Parts: sequence; structure tokens; C-alpha cells
Amino acid sequence: MEKEYVVGVTGASGICYARRLLEVLCTVATVHVIVSDVATKIAAHEGVELSGFRAKYHENDRMFSEIASGSYRYDGMVIIPCSQKTLAAIAHGYADNLITRTADVCLKERRTCILVTRETPLSEIHINNMLAAHRAGATIMPASPPFYHRPRTLDDLVDMVVARVLDHLGIEHTLGGRWSGTNA
Ligand SMILES: Cc1cc2nc3c(=O)[nH]c(=O)nc-3n(C[C@H](O)[C@H](O)[C@H](O)COP(=O)(O)O)c2cc1C
Repeated sequence: MEKEYVVGVTGASGICYARRLLEVLCTVATVHVIVSDVATKIAAHEGVELSGFRAKYHENDRMFSEIASGSYRYDGMVIIPCSQKTLAAIAHGYADNLITRTADVCLKERRTCILVTRETPLSEIHINNMLAAHRAGATIMPASPPFYHRPRTLDDLVDMVVARVLDHLGIEHTLGGRWSGTNA
């Protein structure tokens, strides 16, 4: 049976990561997409289009959505990128929109919940919130691409971040960049 995931997009820089994830995920899984209001504005600012995928789009204030309930079954959630504000809400169970409510549900139901955070530098508040979310069961995956595969383009860097997210979801992909050792 096809797997089913929720992708939340929040107001942090790097909306291109969300687009790349949707490009791959929507071809192999059932996908629900929630985009926060600020993310919509940043997407426009960064010139990234998030509409048009084979996915069910939900309004972030639609708390009556099926994915807001623990009784609705799906395989997991990715918030990409994840703002520090949304991380803070998740870390403290402050589920006042569909993205944070769905993450809250994922954690209480012990489902995969991946937070692709983006901010630098990090304050003590950010770090404590990451620890709290991690302890509650989330996987914190900062958007921090490696360089060992010698990326040539921005797309190469984006793919390396999205590849690790797909790995954690257990989704086969060809985004490449696996370390295969060296004689050095
Ligand atoms: C252009 C722009 C870029 C931003 N980048 C980040 C970011 O990288 N990380 C972050 O935590 N917040 C960032 N913010 C701030 C968040 O958008 C803000 O805290 C917002 O309330 C997040 O709301 P949301 O999580 O509901 O989308 C940015 C805001 C703007 C306008």
C-alpha cells in the first residue's frame, strides 16, 4: 500500500528544500501539504512555487482537517523548512494551527516527525527547544548540507538535505551523494 505523509512548510528561509521534497515524495506516496502564511510569503520572495503537486493541500487554520486527529492514520510528517517559532510551539505542545497540531499528533502517536530547522546562530532557547522536541520523539535535521560529494550547483546542495530526509522516511531515491569511503 502507498505510504502517506504530511509535509508542513513554515516561514524559514530555504523553501526550495520543500519543493524538492515534494517533487520526489508526491511521485511515490500520498502527500498532504500545509503551508503557513509566512511560508507562502517567503516562497514568493525566494521565487519558489509550491502548488501543482499531486497532493492534498490543507489550510493551516483548518483544524477540522482529518490529519489533525490521531485516529487518521498516516506514516509520518516532515516540516521543511521548520522555523524556530514552529519548533518552539511543537516543543511545548502549543498546537494552535494545523502544522503544529499535526506534529503534536505525530509525537503522541509515536510516528515519524522530522523537523528540518533553519536558523543560525542558535540561541539557548532554540537549542533547548530542539532538545525538548528530540526527547519527545522528533528527529531534528537542520538544513545543513555536506560538501564531501563536491557539489557544483545549488540544486546539488538542496538534494543532499532532501536525500537525508527521504532516507529517514525510508523512501528509495536517486538523489545521490552517499559516502562510499576513501583510501585517504
Ligand atoms: C524573509 C524571512 C525569512 C525568515 N527566515 C527564518 C529562518 O530562516 N528561520 C526562522 O526560524 N525564522 C525565520 N523567519 C521568521 C519566521 O518567519 C517567523 O518567526 C514566523 O512567525 C514563523 O511562522 P510560521 O512558523 O508559522 O511559519 C523569517 C522571516 C522572514 C520574513
